[in-house]
Amino acid sequence: MDATMTAAGAERLRLAHLPTPLEPLERLSRELGGPRIWVKRDDCTGLAGGGNKTRKLEFLLGDALDRGVDTVLTAGAVQSNHARQTAAACARLGLGCELFLKEAAPGRGESYGHSGNVLLDRILGAQVRILPGEASAETAMDKRAEALRREGRRPYVIPVGGSNAVGALGYVECARELSAQAHGMKLGIDAVVHASASHGTQAGLAVGLAVAGAEALLLGVSVGGSSRQAQANVEQIAAATCERLGSPRRFAEIEVDDRFVGEGYGIPTSEGLAAIRLLARLEGLLLDPVYTGKAMAGLVAMIREGRFVSGENVVFLHTGGWPALFAYKEELAEDGAPR
Ligand SMILES: Cc1ncc(COP(=O)(O)O)c(C=O)c1O
Repeated sequence: MDATMTAAGAERLRLAHLPTPLEPLERLSRELGGPRIWVKRDDCTGLAGGGNKTRKLEFLLGDALDRGVDTVLTAGAVQSNHARQTAAACARLGLGCELFLKEAAPGRGESYGHSGNVLLDRILGAQVRILPGEASAETAMDKRAEALRREGRRPYVIPVGGSNAVGALGYVECARELSAQAHGMKLGIDAVVHASASHGTQAGLAVGLAVAGAEALLLGVSVGGSSRQAQANVEQIAAATCERLGSPRRFAEIEVDDRFVGEGYGIPTSEGLAAIRLLARLEGLLLDPVYTGKAMAGLVAMIREGRFVSGENVVFLHTGGWPALFAYKEELAEDGAPR
């Protein structure tokens, strides 16, 4: 496996197809009549369906291999994209993979538990454990890691969403990549908008944009908790990332909008489902009901409210997630689409 040392001083594996494209969304921009909208295609990172977690895994699994581990444990919701990308990366590296998946989105249909990401996890050879919504995945992983150590194995535990100072390095690098692309295209980026959940993506971007000297506003759209909780968490991960980089505590302003969460994490909203159909039909772009659909619903609403205006360039960071479309087919089939 190709591995390099980065400016971050961390071992980094090459798992993703990079750089991901930065493309204009011409028809969407025209439809909304506001700023020019661009998409940064991190849904195209290439590993078993792609998505933002592959960038984090380049650093997390670089660290894991450095420590000579043989088994990776991680956690998420049943339809976790992070779990799917971890399962794929472990398969490629010849590591064991154990996934602790919580029933975090109550009342979903039959497809939720058996299709989409969780089906792919099984195809990719991961061992899947389903935990009740109220269980602590951290406790379950710690217990299992202890049992593996007693058997002489070498486990490595990745936190939910891969969101710690190591994983966030993937998005420090993404911010550098985006800044270089924008520079090459003579494009002044006014804002970057994306889905924020476990907050490593936003933390890494906040640090990376500051490192690159970029002036763009960074705006996370929460798909779960409150803005206050999210901002505190992003700041904590961003500060730890600066520490790991050995650089001063300096990052872009943290803003998280929690108006588009709806009833909760993993529960689709009508605006999110409408955004999925809008992008599919105007741009041939696939979003998802848990993350990017809600984030795009947020961007559309903000443009309609006049937050972003004509003459500005707004980048929507597409963080992936399309496999979950199949897990929500009951919700997506309402509204006239064929079953
Ligand atoms: C498709 C998708 N978008 C966005 C996110 C949010 O990234 P983060 O957890 O780093 O906030 C996730 C995380 O699971 C995801 O799977």
